[in-house]
Amino acid sequence: MRRKIIVGNWKMNLDGKSVENLITGLVSRLGEFKHLDVGVAPPFVYLPMAVCLAKEKSLAIAAQNCYPESRGAFTGEISPPMLADIGVDMCIVGHSERRRYFNESNEFIARKVRTLIDNNIKPILCVGEKLEERDAGETLEVVGDQVRKCLSEVGSDEVGEVVLAYEPVWAIGTGRNATPEQAEEVHRFIRGIIGDMYGEDVSSEMRIMYGGSVKPDNAYDLIAKDEIDGALVGGASLALEQFVGIISKVL
Ligand code: 13P
Repeated sequence: MRRKIIVGNWKMNLDGKSVENLITGLVSRLGEFKHLDVGVAPPFVYLPMAVCLAKEKSLAIAAQNCYPESRGAFTGEISPPMLADIGVDMCIVGHSERRRYFNESNEFIARKVRTLIDNNIKPILCVGEKLEERDAGETLEVVGDQVRKCLSEVGSDEVGEVVLAYEPVWAIGTGRNATPEQAEEVHRFIRGIIGDMYGEDVSSEMRIMYGGSVKPDNAYDLIAKDEIDGALVGGASLALEQFVGIISKVL
């Protein structure tokens, strides 16, 4: 049985006081949700405070990005050893916003995944097709290529550290979520690729979250699907009651 996981991606939102309030509120509610993993990804500058507030609680703290080198002349960047140093548990990589606005390639993302694993930080690897790719019938080809390339530097004994997130670009921030059936089809396909790359035992353990306009009122139908192991939540993770509303749909 794969343990379900819900992660809030706060993107470039909130301020220090609201990060503090949200994490304190979440931590006080987590006792009700011991049967799943819950995490949040605050902006970099709030990570030390977030780690401190979540310390020894069952809330995982994720970064939203990293640079794929340990140190050096990369002005403005943050390395996986730095994230490990302050106690960050996970790191989102391959998000479509980074692919789009910062031209990140699968090869560059693969190096991030590698460096994160080397520093004992769990990568949350996002993949997903654009609307025009879905309309052209290229969804599986695009997503398959992303999964294979982004995991190309990871061996079968360590890929268990990775959590995947299928986020169709057309569903992010649009209010138009993939139907549970559309998501399940892609999740099953991704699990098949993991099986080809690493074998059945590994693929049956691999957690694959869905992301894209997940809200309290559609979360149950998505997460109840066999192939959907949780959710990566953007907008609805910024308000405590909405986020808890989603978490509470995981039975
Ligand atoms: P929304 O939930 O706001 O659609 O964002 C999804 C997302 O991008 C999570 O990483």
